[in-house]
Amino acid sequence: MNLIELDNVSRTFTVRTRVGRLRRERREVRAVQGLSFTVAPGECVGYIGPNGAGKSTTIKMLTGILVPSGGRLRVAGVDPARERARLARRIGVVFGQRTTLWWDLPLRDSFELVRRLYRVPPPRYRANLARCVELLRLGDLLDTPVRQLSLGQRMRGDLAAALLHDPQVLYLDEPTIGLDVLSKARVREFLREVNEAGTTVLLTTHDLTDIEQLCRRVMVIDHGRVVYDGDLPGLHAQGESERTLVVDLVREGAPIDLPGVRVVKVEGNRQWLAFPAARSAAPIVAAVADRYPLLDLSVREPVIEDVIARMYAGATIG
Ligand SMILES: Nc1ncnc2c1ncn2[C@@H]1O[C@H](COP(=O)(O)OP(=O)(O)O)[C@@H](O)[C@H]1O
Ligand SMILES: [Mg+2]
Repeated sequence: MNLIELDNVSRTFTVRTRVGRLRRERREVRAVQGLSFTVAPGECVGYIGPNGAGKSTTIKMLTGILVPSGGRLRVAGVDPARERARLARRIGVVFGQRTTLWWDLPLRDSFELVRRLYRVPPPRYRANLARCVELLRLGDLLDTPVRQLSLGQRMRGDLAAALLHDPQVLYLDEPTIGLDVLSKARVREFLREVNEAGTTVLLTTHDLTDIEQLCRRVMVIDHGRVVYDGDLPGLHAQGESERTLVVDLVREGAPIDLPGVRVVKVEGNRQWLAFPAARSAAPIVAAVADRYPLLDLSVREPVIEDVIARMYAGATIG
C-alpha cells in the first residue's frame, strides 16, 4: 500500500492585482495542476524544482493546511484536509523558513508541549527524546530559549520536535536553507538515520547535495507538474548536466589536461573543471591528485535551475 497518493491534484489561488491606479483585477494562479504520484512506505523522496514551482503548496496540502482545488489526495489512507487532527499524529513537518518551536521557551519546554499536544506516552517520549538529543547533539541546548539558538541549532530543535510523536511520514520544506556546512552535514546524517529506521521522508531542497546523499528517488516539479521522476544520475544524464571540481594547485600552471574533464576557468592557482554530473567524482579527483600537486579541492553540484533547464533542452533533442 502507498503511504502518499495524489491523483490529479490541483490547487489554484486567486490573487488580486492592481491594474493602473484604481482598478483591481482578480487573477488565478495555478500553483499545482494535474499532480499525480505515489510514495511507498520507507522511501526517501527528493522533491525539487525552481522557485514558485508548487513544492510548498504540495507539502501544505499533504499536511492538511491547504485544501486542494481538485483531485484526490491521501496520506496513510486519510484525506489530510478533512481529517487534519487525526493525520497530525502520523506526520511530522519542518519548514526551514519558519520554526514551530515556542520562541521564548527553552527547547526542553517546547518538546514537553509537543508531548502533550500529541499525547505521546511518557516512556516513548523519553526514548524518542533521548535518541534525538544524542543524534542531533542537543544535550547542551535543552535549557536555552529558542530565540537564542543559531539557525542550525534551531533547525535541529525543529527536527526533534517533528519526530517526538513517531510520525510515519516526515515532510521537510527546505530544511538546510541558510545552514552552514557542518549543520547541513548533521541534519543530513540525522535524516539518513531517521529514514533507515523506517520513517518515510519527502524532502524539498535547493541543495542537490542533500538529494545526492539522501534520496534514491527524485521528483522534479515545474509550473505545478511533475516533469521528472527517477534517480539523480538519471536526471543529470537526461540534461547532460555538469558538476564542477574546484582545485587549488600548489603552483600556477597550464590548464589541467585530463580526459573527460573540461577546464572552464583559471584564476591564479585555482582551476574550475567541469565533468558530467552522472559520473562519479572519485576517479576524477584521484586522477587530478595523482598528476598535479594540490593544496585543496572541492566538488560543486550544479544548481537545480540549471539542471532543469538542461533537462528540457535534452528532452527536445532526444
Ligand atoms: N497563499 C498564496 N496566495 C497566492 N498565491 C500563492 C500562495 N501560495 C503560493 N502561491 C503561488 O503559487 C505558486 C507556487 O508557490 P509555492 O508552492 O510556494 O512554490 P515553491 O515552494 O515551489 O517555491 C507561486 O506562483 C506562488 O506565488
Ligand atoms: Mg517553497
